[in-house]
Amino acid sequence: MRKPFVAGNWKMNTDSQSSVDLAGRVGSGSSGVAGQTVDVAVCPPFVYLQSVVRAVAVSSVAVGAQDIYFEAKGAFTGEISASMLKDIGCTYVLCGHSERRHVIGETDDLINKKVIAAISGGLLPILCVGELQSEREAGLTNEVVTRHVKNGLSDLGREKASAVTIAYEPVWAIGTGLTATPEQAQEVHAFIRGLLAEMYDADLAAETRILYGGSVKPGNAAELMAREDIDGLLVGGASLKADDFLAIVQAAA
Ligand code: 13P
Repeated sequence: MRKPFVAGNWKMNTDSQSSVDLAGRVGSGSSGVAGQTVDVAVCPPFVYLQSVVRAVAVSSVAVGAQDIYFEAKGAFTGEISASMLKDIGCTYVLCGHSERRHVIGETDDLINKKVIAAISGGLLPILCVGELQSEREAGLTNEVVTRHVKNGLSDLGREKASAVTIAYEPVWAIGTGLTATPEQAQEVHAFIRGLLAEMYDADLAAETRILYGGSVKPGNAAELMAREDIDGLLVGGASLKADDFLAIVQAAA
């Protein structure tokens, strides 16, 4: 049975005070469900990770980073390794978020190295995949998602692949207010699960959590979660408001 998983991606938002306040409210507001009927994580900017880890320490809310570098240490100015993130109490890391693919220019090859490095460093990667609007309109959704999943998990054996959560985030639904309909999301989630069965086996496919992301709100969380292959939600904008994020957590719990 796949336990629902709701993660908040704060992106480049909050400050030293509001990050701690938000984390504290998510921690206290999700007590009784977080870690029990739903896994909950927040992913603040790097500079607030440590204070957010402290702010959620009394709760069952986990903390994730929004990115990592694949090397373990050394002369890589400005970069942060998996072991550093593990060291300060991170559990998860986002890999291949669409903003990193399309704004920063990350390639599938780089993202694959990050997924591998995350697992080697003791973190649980959340591999983000999803098509652009133009790709959906051209009927290329399955092709793009296949490329992201296969390349993202390249060279990962079954055991390591079982540490990965997949997040399907159609780029056209991110921050736009356009949400994929539950039917559209379910269709791609089922396709991804089939792909995992093909790449590994039916058990791994059945165990892997596949999250949906893209304009998730308290008002659409329950109908998305009701779909068979939607195991959780990766929330951007609505994760910056404690009440909205907690309502989404409750909808998934
Ligand atoms: P929004 O929820 O703001 O659309 O962002 C989704 C997202 O990119 C989460 O990673």
